[in-house]
Amino acid sequence: MTAITRFLTGITTSGTPHLGNYVGSIRPSVRASKSTEVESFYFLADYHALIKIDEPARIQRSTLEIAASWLAAGLDPERVTFYRQSDIPEIPELTWLLTCVTGKGVLNRAHAYKAAVDKNTAAQQDADMDVTAGLFMYPVLMGADILMFNAHKVPVGRDQIQHIEMARDMANSFNHRYGEHFVPPQAEIEESVATLPGLDGRKMSKSYDNTIPLFASREQLKKLIAGIVTDSRAPGEPKDPEGSALFQIYQAFASEEETQALRKAYADGIAWGDAKHMLLERIDHEIAPMREKYQDLINNPGKIEGILLAGAAKARQRATPFMAALRNAVGLRRLGDSMPVAVQKVAKAALPSFKQYREADGQFRFKLVDAQGRVLLQSLGFESPKVAAQTIALLQREGAAALAGLSNQLEPLAVNADDVGAALTELRTAKS
Ligand code: TRP
Repeated sequence: MTAITRFLTGITTSGTPHLGNYVGSIRPSVRASKSTEVESFYFLADYHALIKIDEPARIQRSTLEIAASWLAAGLDPERVTFYRQSDIPEIPELTWLLTCVTGKGVLNRAHAYKAAVDKNTAAQQDADMDVTAGLFMYPVLMGADILMFNAHKVPVGRDQIQHIEMARDMANSFNHRYGEHFVPPQAEIEESVATLPGLDGRKMSKSYDNTIPLFASREQLKKLIAGIVTDSRAPGEPKDPEGSALFQIYQAFASEEETQALRKAYADGIAWGDAKHMLLERIDHEIAPMREKYQDLINNPGKIEGILLAGAAKARQRATPFMAALRNAVGLRRLGDSMPVAVQKVAKAALPSFKQYREADGQFRFKLVDAQGRVLLQSLGFESPKVAAQTIALLQREGAAALAGLSNQLEPLAVNADDVGAALTELRTAKS
């Protein structure tokens, strides 16, 4: 039997997916999700987006675009669990439990926070200037994302390795205190996936403003590709594929043979314009079929919303009971819930109860007896068992308050009325 490995990845909803996201994350993830030995969780990390973005419309738009991109690229929401982070209230709840087992000093060393502090310090400002507690807590929220579903592997870029290490530490500290609940996760770095260069030759990234949107129209794509930096070699002059952004982007979409053919064309002095045309055709060949699906989804936000809500329901089938177990583990419990078994048994046996029966006269009666068998309440005869049952239900619901109104269906009380009231209250509390 092969054990199922759980993969989990979050995508921050802070922008429009570009070709770098596609090559580095969307495409390999969609491929991996088709394997039968894995169970995949993909989610839109919109709580994380709030750390960077305070434009509500942008968060919403990005959530729509990212969801549509993953679906258009072939993610099958039936096969994987695809959800929006903020639809899972257990995640912020778990964040708090993890916050309480995470050293503040550990968070002080998180790269993103430290970079902000270093920058402030270098500028001779207060170390925490413009740093929100959200940025500081980022790794704990991410730990909750991962541990909530006990993911084994988390495919991420190198910049995220430290966060996964922190999630491991959170899992271990929690397990140490409260018993084995979490699987310590591992980062999964895709060595074979190269980072895509952008228009200017640096890594394609929103922060460099050098991206090609994944679902640009063919015309936009053509324009953007025309802007990819090249050197000044003229047509006919041999060109070097090394360090050529155009070549690297082509390679990310092409087969081995196609790449070899372009390498040869470079050596033979292909004109930059012609090489760019080849790149346009190659990318468009892969993206065009998805583009149509993407447009259709973007125009039907309700459809995506439905998919995400169904995904959240699926995710919560695990998250809700797991969170209940975690709450119990740390001691956030119903009072009386976790009493020693022996005590619980006694308590159960000590409960009063209603007994229904039929007398020789054919009438239906009930009585309320306490644990020792003492009769607290005795009814008169009812014509139908249904009315007897309804009267019991009324007493269970309303307790002693119902007694006065029932005086002509009940025998006069033979015991202290307070005892009857207490027994009814006890029953009601035990039921809820
Ligand atoms: N921090 C990740 C990023 O910026 C996004 C993310 C949030 C994530 N929660 C996660 C990734 C959990 C993997 C697992 O790319």
